[in-house]
Amino acid sequence: MKRKVLSMVLATSMLAAALVGCGGGEAAPAATSEPAAEAPAAEEEAPAAEAPAAEEEAPAADAAAPTGNKVGVSMPTKDLQRWNQDGSNMQAELEAAGYEVDLQYASNDEATQASQIENMINGGCSVLVIAAIEANSLSTVLEGAKSAGIPVIAYDRLIMNTDAINYYATFDNYKVGVTQGQYIVDALDLDNADGPFNMEITAGDPGDNNAPFFYNGAMDTLQPYIDAGKIVIPSGQVDFATVGTPKWSTETAQSRMENILSSNYADGTKLDICLCSNDSTSLGVQNALAANYTGDYPIVTGQDCDIANVKNMIAGKQSMSVFKDTRTLASQVVKMVGQILSGEEVEVNDTTTYDNGTGVIPSFLCDPVFADANNYKELLIDSGYYTDADLQ
Ligand code: BGC
Repeated sequence: MKRKVLSMVLATSMLAAALVGCGGGEAAPAATSEPAAEAPAAEEEAPAAEAPAAEEEAPAADAAAPTGNKVGVSMPTKDLQRWNQDGSNMQAELEAAGYEVDLQYASNDEATQASQIENMINGGCSVLVIAAIEANSLSTVLEGAKSAGIPVIAYDRLIMNTDAINYYATFDNYKVGVTQGQYIVDALDLDNADGPFNMEITAGDPGDNNAPFFYNGAMDTLQPYIDAGKIVIPSGQVDFATVGTPKWSTETAQSRMENILSSNYADGTKLDICLCSNDSTSLGVQNALAANYTGDYPIVTGQDCDIANVKNMIAGKQSMSVFKDTRTLASQVVKMVGQILSGEEVEVNDTTTYDNGTGVIPSFLCDPVFADANNYKELLIDSGYYTDADLQ
């Protein structure tokens, strides 16, 4: 019953937040909270949630001051650096704010993620923060969260086709793609140069709602130059369905690029641009180039500023990345958790962009930042995100 009251409070605060709305589609202001104190460290996973205790009521409390203070954080995988940072930043900040944290990683396995979330629901979490492996795979388990009155924040990736999602916190995903596309426009001076320049495209996981945003941001920026014949795509592989990389796999991106190189570039054709949506796929493309391409090195894009990729930017194997400071996102989400649990208005800055199939989800978009070999020191080292030693 108490949960019902909490739900009503939530509904009211969501409405208030939606009414306030601020700058739909605009770049988000920088989050105001302090970054997590620690630079990314080796992951310590929180213990698995206890077995469901059927008769134990989850600790939602009265509307004014809910007392539940356990937060479930569900992350997709430890395989990619960024999720380790997201998880440890969230855990550190939530614990510093006095919450108990149940942090779980699901080894990129959808069934594992669903069962971890079920344990969080049954284990008394008052709020769930979820970075989904697959956008459509959590509807059933989240029905349980909704009926228990447990609010859900979709973290970084929107969870689709379920009305159990209360809020979404992410970076401006379309802007990530625009940043990559604009880099290519500037680097090749496409407004003045005739070209044609040869480009190949490697996009993200079709099961990740972010992936088409990245792709569309970049392609919308480059399309005028494609239409003008200044950029051509010798493989003919252009549409999102064809260029996607399931699970953002480095190996899959690498083998696809190896095939493209042997079919289209083995005769000495010059490759000028590798548009890669993120760093894990970019690494695969870079591996393929290293083994199979001897021409002038192309422009290679990325996203995340993973350590391996920053090293490659310094070594000239990757031209740019997009820095998404996971400390900023974690801080914002911790703030949202606090606002939810205290019945305050939840801060959002976008109430138009992200419809998950059941309606627009009030969102907070953090600002992604261009990174390359010239500014990485200021962005990544001076800010304490990495140490010099991390990049040796
Ligand atoms: C994230 C990217 C990340 C990718 C692969 C996306 O949802 O927004 O930052 O590179 O997943 O993990």
